[in-house]
Amino acid sequence: MTEPTFTPRVFSGIKPSGGLTLGNYLGAIKRFVGMQGGAFETIYCVVDLHAITVWQDPAELAQATREVAAGFLAAGIDPSKSILFNQSMVSAHAELGWIFNCVARLGWMNRMTQFKEKAGKNAEKQSLGLYAYPSLMAADILIYHATHVPVGEDQKQHVELTRDIAAKFNHDYKTDFFPLTEPVIEGPATRVMNLRDGTKKMSKSGESDMERINMLDDADAISKKFKKARTDPAPLPETLDGLKDRPEARNLVDIYAALSDTTPEAVIAEHAGAGWGAFKPALADLAVSKLAPISDEMGRLMNDPAEIDRILRSGADKARVIAEPILQRTYDIVGLLR
Ligand code: AMP
Ligand code: TRP
Repeated sequence: MTEPTFTPRVFSGIKPSGGLTLGNYLGAIKRFVGMQGGAFETIYCVVDLHAITVWQDPAELAQATREVAAGFLAAGIDPSKSILFNQSMVSAHAELGWIFNCVARLGWMNRMTQFKEKAGKNAEKQSLGLYAYPSLMAADILIYHATHVPVGEDQKQHVELTRDIAAKFNHDYKTDFFPLTEPVIEGPATRVMNLRDGTKKMSKSGESDMERINMLDDADAISKKFKKARTDPAPLPETLDGLKDRPEARNLVDIYAALSDTTPEAVIAEHAGAGWGAFKPALADLAVSKLAPISDEMGRLMNDPAEIDRILRSGADKARVIAEPILQRTYDIVGLLR
């Protein structure tokens, strides 16, 4: 049997569960922009149905959805080159998600480390949606037969689950309908760490605002946060090896490399021996020079919410054209009459 060929297609998503961080920008959006207009069709989504797996105030959810969309646009996602929309506008995601809930096994879901981390000791009080979320994520990807998914390191396990779901579906229904999607996790910033604790990921929802850079932070806030970032007292080493066991130092070097489109090795070569009194201000200036134009543009876009909504609706129209036939074909394969 010959393998079916799938159109090279990228899908990725970001939850509107708060403002965008530097982690989202370097680990996701900047890389999404890089994949646009090349060998792949690119589809990017504000995954609002994922956000409500934990409580979201309705007015804030609508605002955060527009803010994430504005972040995509301001960073360079071009609606004439990529499909950009919010997930709930394309109902096929939720419909395929249900079918995948019947394919995924409880044993698989129980291994998801993100759920365990988020639920902590309070698993009994979490929503069923939070537990089932990786199966909806598989549907987000496979409803487009996406072949590649650029994500940060924290999402690797969920893309592997997506492959398991595709493989089990194909096996159970004796078909080769769904592709085995590849995660794309590359570059120096696939895991941007918290500025106050280099062992934790930078996230939208950490306790203190000082631990993250928000895309909408102004120059003063960005400088202050980098200058107060936790580090050890030693200066930057001569080689990258010297950053082993120095997670906070390594993180700042990685951020510098990602912002300046170079490698951590090159950053060390340039700044070997520098103390934090020199490196942190240089990093802050670099971050401000890269982020200020994006946050200015985000602010401008957010002053015109009707325009953002129009772009999302038009993206959803294009997304449906790809998703609907794949959903209908899935229904046929499963034996659902229509
Ligand atoms: P989320 O904000 O959880 O919806 O994440 C959206 C995308 O940003 C995913 O691809 C994540 O892997 C990526 N991401 C989020 N936080 C970070 C981080 N601290 N470092 C690198 N990538 C991140
Ligand atoms: N689960 C991802 C996150 O928390 C967001 C997401 C939802 C996603 N659906 C996706 C990412 C599909 C890539 C592809 O970051």
